[in-house]
Amino acid sequence: MKPSVLVTRHFFPELVTRLQEYFEVDNHDSNEGLPPEELKARLKDKAGLLLSVADPLPAETIAEARALKAVCNVGVGYNNIDVVACTKAGIMVTNTPDVLTETTADLAWALLMAAARRLPMAERWLREGQWGAWRYDLWLGTDVHGATLGIIGMGRIGQALARRATGFGMKTIYHNRTPLAADVEAKYQASWVEKNALLREADFVVLLLPYSPAVHHYIGAAELGLMKPTAHLINVARGGIVDDAALITALREHRLCGAGVDVFEGEPKFNPDFLSLDNVVLTPHIGSASRQARMAMGMRAVDNLIAALTGARPGDCVNPDVLA
Ligand code: DGY
Repeated sequence: MKPSVLVTRHFFPELVTRLQEYFEVDNHDSNEGLPPEELKARLKDKAGLLLSVADPLPAETIAEARALKAVCNVGVGYNNIDVVACTKAGIMVTNTPDVLTETTADLAWALLMAAARRLPMAERWLREGQWGAWRYDLWLGTDVHGATLGIIGMGRIGQALARRATGFGMKTIYHNRTPLAADVEAKYQASWVEKNALLREADFVVLLLPYSPAVHHYIGAAELGLMKPTAHLINVARGGIVDDAALITALREHRLCGAGVDVFEGEPKFNPDFLSLDNVVLTPHIGSASRQARMAMGMRAVDNLIAALTGARPGDCVNPDVLA
């Protein structure tokens, strides 16, 4: 008999077809996540789980999933999963690094450009029929070329962003807990600085660090207060890293020039006060949302699940202790 796996969301049908070669698939083919009790019930007899970054998997659900051996997230971030509880229960957890790096860096760049040059606001204004005359000071934005880019979280995506910045003649500074090796810094023409120095110096601060409770409200009123009033903040990391209410206040009071926000506290709900601001560009968590990247992420998660349940070692195990 084939092992059973649960798929928690609508993914491309190619993923399900491939899973069906190996497993009995319980496919929740919907854009709505499973309610917690239903998730528990459907997980009871499952050896594997393919889930999205929007599906929480807390310890209490894991405790009841007695047959579960592998949890494969379709996403590089995995803060939706209680990894400690999985490890205790001997359940392997995997993610999908690499395949979305360039796509997410593209979106970060697009948000930065859109916020700097106020593209969505200007387009909305034109569509509303408000363009009466050419004006010298019409929709003035901020130059990106030659500016200073500050990247917080200089991992794979941060490095891909730094590469883009070299083409725009930007100075790149970054902050990580640990500085990169000198040859890597040289490759990306980037130098490490303290967090507060970065906030003070950068014209564009881009957040690309993973979420954990330790970085909840990593950017709040105090940090925003360090930034230049001409600067922009771009968040393509995770909701909760920025105190959204503090960001709204800083933008409303023009203590910060602009922002690009792809991830929100409590998403898909978000602070409605964002909507009253004309100096922020808002997108609905679409960092990795190209057809190619989403297919690659899905297939990588499927490969991880197949490997985990057929005795092979998945390449993307984030809790390798369970393999030991
Ligand atoms: C990820 O992979 O963590 C992204 O946020 C999903 O698009």
